[in-house]
Amino acid sequence: MSLITVHDKQFIPYLPEDLIREKVKELAAALDQDYQGKRPLFIAILNGSFMFAADLFKELQIEAEICFIKLASYKGTKSTGHVITAIGLDTDITDRHVVILEDIIDTGKTMHEFLPQLQNQQPASLKVAVLLHKPDATRFTIPIDYCCFSIPNKFVLGYGLDYDGLGRNIREIYQLKDEG
Ligand code: IMP
Ligand code: MG
Repeated sequence: MSLITVHDKQFIPYLPEDLIREKVKELAAALDQDYQGKRPLFIAILNGSFMFAADLFKELQIEAEICFIKLASYKGTKSTGHVITAIGLDTDITDRHVVILEDIIDTGKTMHEFLPQLQNQQPASLKVAVLLHKPDATRFTIPIDYCCFSIPNKFVLGYGLDYDGLGRNIREIYQLKDEG
């Protein structure tokens, strides 16, 4: 088993690269079917979803558009207590078929605050596709329409997800090693 150390913590391999690739391909195939002829607009949430979004988008066969926004609940080192939009949406979503691409639903707070803002702009439809979901951590009810992996409530990194800024470039997903 190849442990890695990032900052002060140790992580163990959890989801290998081929399994992630396989699940992302399956998701793309499902989206191809469901959005044929609808020219969907994908909105990927930065930073964490950049790798997932890029890999998924490459697999899509249908006509589709993608744009990026950046959400954060922290500004600098202080929590604002709510989700702020650090880079906003520059595309009109009225009457569009919108699919949110998110790296992970943890507490669900980010999506809980963001989805109503999008719904207000009256898209033709609004769905959520996530790479990872931690059902045991989720405190807000979020409609998750597509999910690649349901995982236990343990911190993960790699494939776009970071621990304090590092680890996003790791090709597979690692899980925090239990201490002791
Ligand atoms: P939320 O709690 O569902 O609002 O998740 C907010 C954000 O926290 C996610 O979009 C991720 O960027 C980050 N996050 C949550 N859990 C993890 C994790 O296990 N590893 C790395 N980032 C995480
Ligand atoms: Mg994120």
